[in-house]
Amino acid sequence: MARHVIAAVDELPPGTRKFLEIDGRPIAVFNIKGEYFGLMNRCPHQGAALCEGPLIGLAQSRDPGEIEYTKLGEIIRCPWHGWEFDIRTGQSYCDPRRFRVKAYPAHVEPGASVVKGPYVAETIAVKVESDYVVVEL
Ligand code: FES
Repeated sequence: MARHVIAAVDELPPGTRKFLEIDGRPIAVFNIKGEYFGLMNRCPHQGAALCEGPLIGLAQSRDPGEIEYTKLGEIIRCPWHGWEFDIRTGQSYCDPRRFRVKAYPAHVEPGASVVKGPYVAETIAVKVESDYVVVEL
C-alpha cells in the first residue's frame, strides 16, 4: 500500500471533504470530528459520485414510534437514489451484506516524517580545462 500525502491538516477542517484521484481511482477524504476517512467516490448501486452527497446521521428504531438519531455527520447519502453508507467503514445501510463502498485508511503524520531533510540542491560538476569552463551534465 503506497502512501499519498493529500493535504495539510489546516486545509481539511472537521466537517469537510477533499476530492482527489489516486492511481485513476476517484476518492474523497473526510474529516469527521478530527478523524480522517477515505472512501471511493463511486456508488456501488449505479455509479454516482457518492461522496458529493450530503452528510447525515443514522436514524434507527428498536420499537415502533421510537427513533434514535446517531452518527451525526458520519453517514453519506448518495445524491442519485439516497442509499446511505457509513463513512468510517463503507458499510451500506440499505443492504449491508451485498453492498459496501471501498474505504481507505487515512491518518495524520507529522510534517517532519512527510518532508524529509536535510535539503540538498541538485549540483553539477564544473571543471576548468585550458581556459575553457566546461559543464558536465
Ligand atoms: S447510484 Fe447511488 S444510490 Fe443509486
